[in-house]
Amino acid sequence: MTGPDQNNGEDNGLDIRIRRVDRKDLDAVIAIDAQVTGNSKPDYWNDLFDRYATRRLNERFFVVAEPVNAGDGPSILGYLIGEIRTWEFGSEPCGWIFAFAVDPAARLQRIGERMFQNMSDEFRQAGVNTMRTMVLRHEPLPMGFFRSEGMVAGPYIQLEKDLND
Ligand SMILES: CC(C)(COP(=O)(O)OP(=O)(O)OC[C@H]1O[C@@H](n2cnc3c(N)ncnc32)[C@H](O)[C@@H]1OP(=O)(O)O)[C@@H](O)C(=O)NCCC(=O)NCCS
Repeated sequence: MTGPDQNNGEDNGLDIRIRRVDRKDLDAVIAIDAQVTGNSKPDYWNDLFDRYATRRLNERFFVVAEPVNAGDGPSILGYLIGEIRTWEFGSEPCGWIFAFAVDPAARLQRIGERMFQNMSDEFRQAGVNTMRTMVLRHEPLPMGFFRSEGMVAGPYIQLEKDLND
């Protein structure tokens, strides 16, 4: 992981640090996810922690945004997981991001952007030049965010089939 991602206030964001997740952060991560999705899934997050925060850390990045001065407020304000995947679908190695959220009370303060940029740096330093993700076509919030960060439609289309048809 690159060093602490300190914000000195030049973009009016909060003073936060982007760092690797620790097991003690999991409750806060689970709580943000539950608030965002309406569904608390501790087993899922414990499994994600084991898979993305304990091994193959040169290609798996599970980061959190931590306020530098949390005080009585939340200990974690957001999370992002990314992974370098190699040769799937005939693709050169590229970085995929998924499981991404900012505490609703802390949005629009560049926390999502800082985690996104931190992940971009990690991928670049690991030698990949492309970052990918998937969004629901008609969901304006993630679409607006990712477009703001410079993401555009990629060369693949997703195919699926209803297995009950
Ligand atoms: C998407 C999300 C992570 C953005 O986090 P955030 O910290 O509020 O975003 P930032 O403050 O870093 O915003 C960065 C850019 O995205 C844009 N953006 C963020 N939220 C937006 C919104 N609601 N509408 C339009 N643009 C938005 C900002 O305007 C900014 O763009 P700019 O540079 O052109 O001004 C957050 O809204 C979230 O957790 N959403 C719910 C979960 C989700 O959608 N996850 C992503 C898909 S898995």
